Amino acid sequence: MIPKQTIDEIVEASLIEEVVGDFVSLKKRGANMLGLCPFHNEKTPSFTVSPAKGIYKCFGCGKAGNSVNFIMEHEHYSYPEALKYLAHKYNIEIEEEEQTDEQKEAANERESLYIVSNYAAEYFKKQLHESEEGRAIGLSYFLERGFREDIIQKFQLGYNPDEWTALTDAAEKEGYSLKYLERSGLTIVKEDKKFDRFKGRVMFPIHNLSGRVLGFGGRTLKSGDAKTAKYVNSPESDIYSKSKVLYGIYFAKKAIIEKNNCFLVEGYTDVISLHQAGVENVVASSGTSLTEGQIRLIKRFTPNITILYDGDAAGLKASFRGIDMILKEGMNVRVVLFPDGEDPDSYAKNHTTEEVTAYITEQAQDFIRFKTDILIKDVGNDPIKRAELIKEIVESIAVIPDQIKRSVYTQECSTLLQIPEQALINETNKILRKNFSKNTQQEAPPIEETYQDLIPEEKEEVSDIAHWESEIIRQLISYGDKDMEVEVITENDEQVKQHVPAALYITNLITQDGLSFENPHFQEIFNAYVEGLNQERIPGHQDFINHHDPELSAIAISVIAEQHQLSPNWENHKIYTVTEEQQLTRAVIDTVHAFKLSKVKKLIEENQHQLKTDTSEDRHLQLLQEQMQLLKVKQQLAGKLGRIILK
Ligand code: CTP
Ligand code: MN
Repeated sequence: MIPKQTIDEIVEASLIEEVVGDFVSLKKRGANMLGLCPFHNEKTPSFTVSPAKGIYKCFGCGKAGNSVNFIMEHEHYSYPEALKYLAHKYNIEIEEEEQTDEQKEAANERESLYIVSNYAAEYFKKQLHESEEGRAIGLSYFLERGFREDIIQKFQLGYNPDEWTALTDAAEKEGYSLKYLERSGLTIVKEDKKFDRFKGRVMFPIHNLSGRVLGFGGRTLKSGDAKTAKYVNSPESDIYSKSKVLYGIYFAKKAIIEKNNCFLVEGYTDVISLHQAGVENVVASSGTSLTEGQIRLIKRFTPNITILYDGDAAGLKASFRGIDMILKEGMNVRVVLFPDGEDPDSYAKNHTTEEVTAYITEQAQDFIRFKTDILIKDVGNDPIKRAELIKEIVESIAVIPDQIKRSVYTQECSTLLQIPEQALINETNKILRKNFSKNTQQEAPPIEETYQDLIPEEKEEVSDIAHWESEIIRQLISYGDKDMEVEVITENDEQVKQHVPAALYITNLITQDGLSFENPHFQEIFNAYVEGLNQERIPGHQDFINHHDPELSAIAISVIAEQHQLSPNWENHKIYTVTEEQQLTRAVIDTVHAFKLSKVKKLIEENQHQLKTDTSEDRHLQLLQEQMQLLKVKQQLAGKLGRIILK
């Protein structure tokens, strides 16, 4: 835990132009600075930095944030990691806050597991390269497989001697305690007997994102022995959780970002051989079926996954579940099948880098083609099987969260299988409805015969409120300290024009009706204004841009970044922006009214719902009266907005 005070100090010291300037070359352009966006590929600069506001915003890809966000995004750091980076840059000392005893113990425990794993990796490596047995058995095996020396070094491959306690003895002699050897799974302890888990195996250390060893895979060298498992892997431990780790991610992450794609293979040797062939954006799920955690790990670096399968993979159908999981995460998935009898490992060994990349590029097909190709083999002329095939594919389409993507795939599927698009749309809607009911335990809204999300119908009113809530927050943050002209009634009942800060006016209009925000973060920002005004101090946007709560800061950044001043085409927007400020009064009043209108509309709906369900007569009358009152308010508000009421 970094103390709050230190965070403030770091944030204050971190000048956005300097922080970004370390990675992007920036040119001065008016009050802002401009450069090529580091987050997407572009030829003309649209990446803007505003030193005054302390934020960056790319008008090409939309990424925006403050200094800390920039480092998190650019270096793929967590929040504390980014703070530490900045502290280092600005020579700020971080005194970590005292941890509780439990936290300390857990941290020590994990650290001990890392340390013993690191020791084991070093030991295995030394055995492989320096011991007679290791060289004769382990190293020669790798070399025979065609692994180059540099690759063996890079992946820190090793060897565990074929004795019962070679590693355990060596480690204990060095002072490592049996407790951690056992917890990390390196040593198995049974009824006072202990022995090396990986006895007589070549070792593949598994690294986390920052390159620390978490666990191992060990391959036997005894071929044809049915009793011996080909691979033995470290068991789950406090540092090794199979479902969240991908083999090779540490060595691949840079290339994944560069290529904006991640190749997913089955095993250790596929990763290593592809690397050796110069293809580095590759990770393995290590034999287990793909998990959500693994997919999210990849998602941190790219939205694109290409799965590489053996040509003879028996369980291709079993891969469908993994594909659906990737689609569900909103990621794009493509599939490559290797020729019969080949896997990425063998293919990479017998082909040049260019050939491997060309093969993958040419063979990659989207999941619809892939599924169709596999399933169509069983279909023949059987109409029932054909219907099942369609259903199977539509089920995958239905898990895709993005509606536009869904419709693209529906079109493709329609062409490929010669089915009217509308039929597929209906089928997808059925599944969406089913899932909707399952997830919300409500009955889904009535089906529509168009390709339309079923959920937005429900959400529309809500998102209306959400929109106006965020508009109010935007105006508070952007213009809270600006004066606006309003009419006030004096004590003598006179109407006079007066200048008040926009924040005062906005907060008054909302609190006088006792309205609140549905979004708790917005409420928090709003409260900060109310409190600030009570102390005769209007919060500035910097208070929120660098807020400790990353969610608040993200909100502030996104609302500020939306402002047109930041645009590189500032000259073009000048007129508009100035106008918005000049017309501040009008804008503020309209927004507050629209916000209230959205609230009233929701109340009307709720009331209507109650009217339908509540049958007691007294209550019914009361509800009706309320309804009339609400409708009147709605009309008034709409009138103020100069809107025509349509319903
Ligand atoms: N695997 C495992 N446990 C097993 C078998 C396989 O953990 N008993 C995992 C390993 O990560 C392995 C991957 O599944 O790398 C793929 O299995 P396989 O193709 O059998 O292994 P390869 O690594 O290709 O081994 P080799 O080429 O040496 O036969
Ligand atoms: Mn293999």
